[in-house]
Amino acid sequence: MRMIVRGARLLHTEGHERGPGALWDVEVGEDGRIARVLPHDDAKEPPATGVLIEAHGSLLTAPFVEPHIHLDTALTAGEPRPNASGTLWEGIACWSERKRTLTRDDVVDRATEVLRWQAAQGVLHVRTHCDTTDPALTALDALLEVRDRVRDFMTLQIVAFPQEGIVSFPDGEALLREAVRRGADVVGAIPHFEDTREDGVASLATAFALAEEHGLRVDAHCDEIDDEQSRFVEVLATLALRSGLRGRATASHTTAMGSYGGAYSFKLQRLLSRSGINLVSNPFANLNLQGRFDAYPKRRGLTQVKEMLAAGVNVAFGHDDVMDPWNALGTGNPLQTALVGVYAAQLTGADEIPEAFAMVTDRAARVLGLPEAEYGIAEGAAASFVLLPAPTPLEAVRRQVRPRYVVAHGRVLAENPPAPARLWWPGEPGSEVDFSRRPR
Ligand code: FE2
Repeated sequence: MRMIVRGARLLHTEGHERGPGALWDVEVGEDGRIARVLPHDDAKEPPATGVLIEAHGSLLTAPFVEPHIHLDTALTAGEPRPNASGTLWEGIACWSERKRTLTRDDVVDRATEVLRWQAAQGVLHVRTHCDTTDPALTALDALLEVRDRVRDFMTLQIVAFPQEGIVSFPDGEALLREAVRRGADVVGAIPHFEDTREDGVASLATAFALAEEHGLRVDAHCDEIDDEQSRFVEVLATLALRSGLRGRATASHTTAMGSYGGAYSFKLQRLLSRSGINLVSNPFANLNLQGRFDAYPKRRGLTQVKEMLAAGVNVAFGHDDVMDPWNALGTGNPLQTALVGVYAAQLTGADEIPEAFAMVTDRAARVLGLPEAEYGIAEGAAASFVLLPAPTPLEAVRRQVRPRYVVAHGRVLAENPPAPARLWWPGEPGSEVDFSRRPR
């Protein structure tokens, strides 16, 4: 055996007659795959060879999945100027200026740095958007190179994302096609940014035709605007339903949905659940960017997360921006995304908080289309997982834990040693603070 994790809690143990608090041993073979998942046996001696990880009841889960990030724009906040209004639109203008100074090394260095932060925090599967409205496609070439460099331990999907439009940007369609020819994994669009409603519809038709032609998926920035008239998600869902891309299409943001009335929302819930599309909500970016043109009452600026989950639509949470013109903060931490999502979407019920955890793990994996056999703690699956120092997803979100270990294909990729706070409470000797302790 290459590795054994002893005494871990698992989330999914279907087929086993044991309770939710049961502990398990997970054995990893020399091929980097999970060889066996066995009930934990305290009396059994650990093997003399291989890496031994004592879990002590911690939660062992499949790695975090980032379904929506922009690695090409990451770490450019304030360059060449800050986004003073805080709107999506000024952010696009700032980026358009910064884009003119891009070099391959600039993009490779910034993207790699954020991937390192993500890996250290247990994110091993990433879907990044990459702006293709650049005649040189500098960022795309750089990200294709980064994808090759991390291939052995991280999945990096690149969305050809026409930030300034397919129809409305000069040669927008030709650049999108060229990005696919060079190796982009997913076709993007931005219909609400196109000049007219008709251009927006045409841009989605172009994206779907291109994806079908090349056997790719679609992920469009869709209705990211506080305009109840922006209804491109119905177009995207219908194209998915009527094309061969059912279940392979994603609408990201869809913040206009937060402004739709009850009658139209009901129609949409039915259409979206039939279409099999995924939604990605990005709570950091949209709490920040939306509502900027509102006086009070000011809209929350999120899509209908709770309602769409209830309608059976797959919804995931994305980080979106990390220190760029649309979000000045961020470290790529998926549990921070989940926490902000819990509050932004009011997923505060005892059953809903674990759902928010699923939205940065299992549900996000479905957005990327990761094969089920490859993603999860199951015999035969790739031995890629995180050991979280918490017994449940709720506790992991609440305490914002860092994974104790991040394992990629049977190899320890990252370790976060515990660093408890020490407190000298008046009248007591110094002690460690335990955020899991309840006195009663
Ligand atoms: Fe985005």
